[in-house]
Amino acid sequence: MGGLPKKAQQLVGLREKKSGVLALDSGALLFKEEKIPPDQVQQLTTTAQGIVSAYNRMSFAAVGVARQDLAAGLPFLLGLRQKSDFPWLSANLVSRTRGKPYFKPHTLLTMAGMNIAVIGLTSGQGTGTDALLTEKDNAVILPWEDVLPREIALLKGRADMLILLSNLPAAVNRKIAEKHPEIHLILQGGSASGNMAPERINNTLITQVEQQGKSVGILEVRWNAQTKRWEDPGAENLLLEKKNELDRLGWQINRYRRQGDPKLAFKDQPDALAAYDAMLAQRERLDQEISRLTVEHNARNASRTQFSSFSHRFEAMRKELPDNPAVGAIVEATTTEVNRLGKIAAKARAAAPLEQGQMVFPENYAGSTACRSCHAPQFKKWLNTKHASAYGTLEDKGQQFNSQCLPCHVTGAFGQPGEMALSLADDLRQVGCETCHGPAGQHAVRPQSARPGQPSMDTCLRCHTGDHDDNFIFPEALARLRCGSP
Ligand code: HEC
Ligand code: HEC
Ligand code: HEC
Ligand code: HEC
Repeated sequence: MGGLPKKAQQLVGLREKKSGVLALDSGALLFKEEKIPPDQVQQLTTTAQGIVSAYNRMSFAAVGVARQDLAAGLPFLLGLRQKSDFPWLSANLVSRTRGKPYFKPHTLLTMAGMNIAVIGLTSGQGTGTDALLTEKDNAVILPWEDVLPREIALLKGRADMLILLSNLPAAVNRKIAEKHPEIHLILQGGSASGNMAPERINNTLITQVEQQGKSVGILEVRWNAQTKRWEDPGAENLLLEKKNELDRLGWQINRYRRQGDPKLAFKDQPDALAAYDAMLAQRERLDQEISRLTVEHNARNASRTQFSSFSHRFEAMRKELPDNPAVGAIVEATTTEVNRLGKIAAKARAAAPLEQGQMVFPENYAGSTACRSCHAPQFKKWLNTKHASAYGTLEDKGQQFNSQCLPCHVTGAFGQPGEMALSLADDLRQVGCETCHGPAGQHAVRPQSARPGQPSMDTCLRCHTGDHDDNFIFPEALARLRCGSP
């Protein structure tokens, strides 16, 4: 949720400059995965609640229900809906016995004097029972074909613009666009990754913003509510292309003419003459085509307002962007609470292993201090890198018990359950030697018998991901903390 204060500030900025700013999210905002480890439920659901508060504050108009949003269970999301100032939309997540949707299938909004309808669709797992839903949920995710035509029919004549928040795969959304040109805009999310510039299929635009709030997609639309049609940028380009081709041809024809009338000049060169004649014929064809395209172009210009146009941009949530104070406070309060919960959990767990006189070292880990006696130069170098104080950084932020932060700020907790990260021995806190060289407990005892490995770029990328380090360059980064020979 770290990027939310920046996202909020950007929305404030947009709303100051423009009227009719509509904030929509196709979903997958609460959790990263469809399943959450049982020992992280408390921390992750607390974070989810904070995210909803932030979205309330940002005045989101509607949010789609994605599979990931159901990770803590359907009852949790239904509970969270009570605290949401915006509608959660899903037309196809319905009661198994009654067929009634659990969430609003669509919502009608008024914006800049226009009526805008927004429908939501959740991605299902095809036939059979969905692993995401329990027997007790009494819920199914229906195929879009079963619900969408009815929703569209219901909204007919009631909206100037129809938007779909879809969590279905990109290929399916394309199929929907082909079948339902009544939908003007599909905001897809939840399954595919990365930003996707608007793609047009018939009269439907499809676009997507990368997941987990790493960027904000801004789509500026000038919509004509009478024709409800996007203008065709292809036609303008075609006219321009043909005009350029005519220019090039004219230049070639003139070159032939420089030697006098080609009919006489090339009398004895039939090939050259034939090429010249072909050029003349081609010029005539081009002339005709250009005048036809020009007529169309003028008609389009005369009725320019008939067509709707758009421009788009994606803005990454870069570190330098300003934070919104109100949403910053929500994030602060939430992360503080998450840390408090982690601390209680860590205390409860610490009791058990300490009774047995053991510190918590995962299999074969020795901790960085154990390497010091034999690798003093490397140890000294490491102490001077930020890896050696990565856990301290979390402590400074009051986040050392947040299981969402720990895996990248400690040693050897990657892929281990959250409780492991919470109760690691002191010597494994920080990004220690064994983060890069792998567990070396045996090596520390019998150096020759078990040699530790060397890290590859993939080792680093596990933590130096785009959303935590937006300009990681492997050779440069390696050069800065090289622990081998200088
Ligand atoms: C008792 C002394 C001792 C301790 C303790 C020790 N090492 Fe070593 N380490 C060695 C020796 C000796 C070699 C050289 C082995 C060889 O060349 O066969 C070595 C080699 C290495 C290498 C280089 C391997 C290579 O392929 O070149 C790495 C990396 C390493 N140790 C990491 C560690 C880490 C991490 C720890 C702490 C968990 C550690 N060592 C603890 C003695 C030790
Ligand atoms: C377990 C997660 C993790 C792994 C794996 C990891 N790093 Fe880091 N790295 C961090 C964290 C966290 C910080 C920031 C620590 C801080 O500021 O408190 C960091 C900081 C750095 C820095 C800045 C150091 C400084 O002192 O200015 C460099 C450079 C770096 N890492 C390079 C690498 C390279 C190269 C690799 C792979 C060989 C790598 N890291 C592997 C988590 C990791
Ligand atoms: C996927 C791995 C990963 C996770 C998860 C992660 N971090 Fe980091 N963190 C890093 C890396 C890598 C760096 C170093 C970035 C750099 O050098 O630019 C870093 C640097 C930092 C820094 C110092 C630089 C800065 O941006 O101020 C702070 C503070 C920090 N992390 C806090 C957190 C908190 C709080 C959490 C949990 C909410 C967290 N991190 C979760 C990988 C991670
Ligand atoms: C961020 C990753 C990272 C961490 C943390 C790290 N190393 Fe290394 N280490 C490397 C890399 C990469 C190499 C390969 C040589 C090089 O390019 O520096 C290396 C090489 C070594 C070698 C072989 C020495 C040589 O001359 O080639 C030893 C021994 C070693 N490290 C020990 C340690 C010890 C001990 C620690 C902890 C105090 C440690 N390393 C922490 C990445 C790391």
